[in-house]
Amino acid sequence: MKNRTVIKTLSGINTADGDGVKLTRIIGSHELNMLDPFLLLDCFESDDAQDYIGGFPEHPHRGFETVTYLLNGKMRHKDNAGHEGVIESGGVQWMTAGRGILHSEMPEQEDGLLQGFQLWVNLPRSEKMSKPRYQEYLPESIAIENLAYGGTVKVISGKTDKGTVGPVINDFVSPTYMDISLSDNEAFSQRLSLGHNAFIYVLQGSVNIITDQDAKSPLPSKHLGILSDGEQVTIESAEQDSRFLLIAGKPLNEPVARGGPFVMNTEAEIRQAFADYQRGLF
Ligand code: CO
Repeated sequence: MKNRTVIKTLSGINTADGDGVKLTRIIGSHELNMLDPFLLLDCFESDDAQDYIGGFPEHPHRGFETVTYLLNGKMRHKDNAGHEGVIESGGVQWMTAGRGILHSEMPEQEDGLLQGFQLWVNLPRSEKMSKPRYQEYLPESIAIENLAYGGTVKVISGKTDKGTVGPVINDFVSPTYMDISLSDNEAFSQRLSLGHNAFIYVLQGSVNIITDQDAKSPLPSKHLGILSDGEQVTIESAEQDSRFLLIAGKPLNEPVARGGPFVMNTEAEIRQAFADYQRGLF
């Protein structure tokens, strides 16, 4: 089987969004505009309330999915259809915005560490105006696989080679979303569908991606590595405990028109989204 390797690394840009929430934009900036079907990846991590207390007051989305994976802290989510809840540490909310929702995402805490990711997953043309829906999972509902040398794989979506299946289902891009922790020098292999775009984001420690020639392609902490195409990826923890996300999905290969919180196929559809929003149709 052909091993994937790292073809590009980047660390994202520091920016702010919502009401002044400091974050690192890893996908969705001039460094990496998108990695089809992934439109955006933000990482927020701070124990200074000033960096996050403003949260993300009410705003719209149309045409894609927002995936919030919280590692530390609590976020309250509320939308204009009456859906409300708190995402807890280790929990995930996979929201299909479809034709549109208005929602707010606010920290449910006034101090302490708030850490997590938001990923935007594009929807195919046929699903962009679908009914909004949610897949929400408490931390205990996320599938966990224990590895031989102390590591763990939390599977949000997709299936490990040993058959552990994550709870989130998306038949449009068949995503893999795994949160993997390895002990020092421990390795982990995962098959990935040929043609799926894939990346690794290192949260802690540093890792090596093992190539077919047994060469090691290093990926340091707080860096994203875009993977080449191939049938599997093998990742080894580099002399200390490491933790990273492995995310992959089938590219949609459709035209992408972006307008702030709306992602459609054409500019006319973006103008329609703004008009619908202004007329209160969300
Ligand atoms: Co939002």
